Amino acid sequence: MAEHPFPEPQVDFDRWPYPAVAAHRGAGKLAPENTLAAMRVGASLGHTLFEFDVKLSGDGKPVLLHDATLDRTTSGRGPAGAWAFAEIAQLDAGSWHGPAWAGEPVPTLAAVAAYLRANGLLANVEIKPSPGRETETGAAVGMAAAHLWRDAAVPPLLSSFSEEALAAARRAVPWLPRALLVDRLPDDWLERVRRLGCVALDSNHASLTEAVVARAHAERLRVLTYTVNDPARAALLRGWGVDCVITDAVDRLRP
Ligand code: G3P
Ligand code: MG
Repeated sequence: MAEHPFPEPQVDFDRWPYPAVAAHRGAGKLAPENTLAAMRVGASLGHTLFEFDVKLSGDGKPVLLHDATLDRTTSGRGPAGAWAFAEIAQLDAGSWHGPAWAGEPVPTLAAVAAYLRANGLLANVEIKPSPGRETETGAAVGMAAAHLWRDAAVPPLLSSFSEEALAAARRAVPWLPRALLVDRLPDDWLERVRRLGCVALDSNHASLTEAVVARAHAERLRVLTYTVNDPARAALLRGWGVDCVITDAVDRLRP
């Protein structure tokens, strides 16, 4: 019998180690998104799982940034992928949120891994490639995550809207668990999740139904959903059996 090219991820349905709430963009609501400052605020509120967005600098360093460009959340301008890491490291990623955060840097994935691991906190690494760099980013972020979380009791959960990036991460580090992110749930969501060897579906909550959650569970897949900021909505989703809600409301929705 031919050997299966992709070993199973370290996390499966029966060994699901993540809590029921994740802080979105590194708990980036009360503090600037995707920064260590935000994670410290989130941790002080009791959060233990942090979702954050990772892309590559022009020279291939994994850094935390949501947008394709630097403009909204940093003092830089233009596409993030056009800047070398040494330049990105000089930027101010805090002032846009308020003067209290001036000088907060764009963190590297390595710095975030060090902080989270030292404090017993967990990661949902959203692979957010710059346009055209999906495969490169999936492989590079996957390999970096595998290295940074080597020997961790709980591995980082990788997720992406980019199926190309997830496929590349799977080829590079098949043992790390993956979740397929979807905004609008496609009819063939289950086939897509299966094709990528994902352990979970991670859907916009507006696209989810109780039947989809039940179907996922029947298929031994976990379900995460974003971005849920209303406690009543979160309670409804939890009632459907959703395994994790990703929230900006880090002060009102806690694990
Ligand atoms: O990972 C879930 C969520 O973060 C996806 O949306 O745009 O905030 O990265 P976005
Ligand atoms: Mg995200």
